[in-house]
Amino acid sequence: MTGQTGVPCTMQGRNILFGVTGSIAAFKAAGWVHALAKEEAQVSVVMTRSATRFISSLTFGALSGKQVYTDMFAEGEGEAMAHITLPRSTDVLLVAPATAQTIARLAHGMADDLLSTAVLACTAPVVICPAMNSNMLAHPATQRNLDILKELHYLVVEPASGLLACGDEGAGRLPEWDGVREILLGLFADNDLAGQKVLITAGPTREPLDPVRYLSNRSSGKMGYALARTARRRGAHVILISGPVQLDPPPEVDIVQVLTAREMEEAVREHAGMASVIVKAAAVADFRPKNASEQKIKKAGADLYLELTANPDILADLGRKRKDNQILVGFAAESNNHEAEGLRKLKDKNVDLMVVNDILGEKTGFDVDTNQVTLISHDGVEQLALISKEETANRIWDCVISLL
Ligand code: CTP
Repeated sequence: MTGQTGVPCTMQGRNILFGVTGSIAAFKAAGWVHALAKEEAQVSVVMTRSATRFISSLTFGALSGKQVYTDMFAEGEGEAMAHITLPRSTDVLLVAPATAQTIARLAHGMADDLLSTAVLACTAPVVICPAMNSNMLAHPATQRNLDILKELHYLVVEPASGLLACGDEGAGRLPEWDGVREILLGLFADNDLAGQKVLITAGPTREPLDPVRYLSNRSSGKMGYALARTARRRGAHVILISGPVQLDPPPEVDIVQVLTAREMEEAVREHAGMASVIVKAAAVADFRPKNASEQKIKKAGADLYLELTANPDILADLGRKRKDNQILVGFAAESNNHEAEGLRKLKDKNVDLMVVNDILGEKTGFDVDTNQVTLISHDGVEQLALISKEETANRIWDCVISLL
């Protein structure tokens, strides 16, 4: 039913040539190599001579499970002509951390060691992550070199700000891995959602009872955030309307934070008109306390009776007012009769696709990174395997693309 498109956008099996240069941040690069290896990427590490002063090549060898390259003129097995053979088979060349010295050499096309030569020989995308003292970064020479790298179509990642190893405070830190991972996956992804404006809701809503208490649910927002990340990767313009969650906002996504169902309804109404696809992954509270107290409710007697009133059904309202050619996707959190309930909601709410998940499953419910969903559209029913929420999100987008 989904008409799955393209190559799945994951790190698995990707060839990554990882250049490490001489900065204290080289120890962070070890964590990145570890993260890539855990996702089953094939990582070949090239270190400059100064990088080996900060961290041993043994570390990278153990983490990547592969030979580490340090010498342009080495003659061991697989090392002769490594500057040509390594970039030939790579999907991306990542230089992290990239020192001011390496940036200057790359900007001027120098080819005086294995890494700089490999960069020149590489026809795959080159991603540069500068890391240095903030004054060195701000120096016009470094800034001019970074501009040259951008003109040469290298992808330069903005350094993070904070306390630097030298004790100074400012820009120049190696950024967090999640953001760089996102950039790499964006390079691997098909651009098949380019031109689409996608509106996604995620997380729970919180319905106040008094200034300290509220009614809510166990939604973590992970599924909605995975949908936002993957849609952005695939080229969509994404607006994410999020209830209160403990997740970092996905890069390059417009985020609108809300608390209650009524705030979510208002935000959805404001943005729905321009969206070509709307995915309602949020777990909206169906009811709210009828009269939220402005003062803390005191325990006056033994029992307390709450009067609840229905919240607006945002998805059903979208279904009633839908524009031509707008695709609507709903989620159904079910504990029994999954397929029948999904079908009923598909029709009742007038949507194109219902994603049904089992809230009782250990690996499919709240706050886990995996999911197993059933996709129900007017064309049929498809049960997906137990996979990560990111993969599930990609399968949902495949299905949306076939509906578009
Ligand atoms: N939804 C919504 N507004 C609500 C309740 C639900 O927009 N007030 C949306 C959810 O975001 C989801 C879909 O409707 O995409 C189904 O939500 P679910 O809680 O499974 O269904 P309900 O319609 O609330 O029905 P029930 O709780 O009886 O299963």
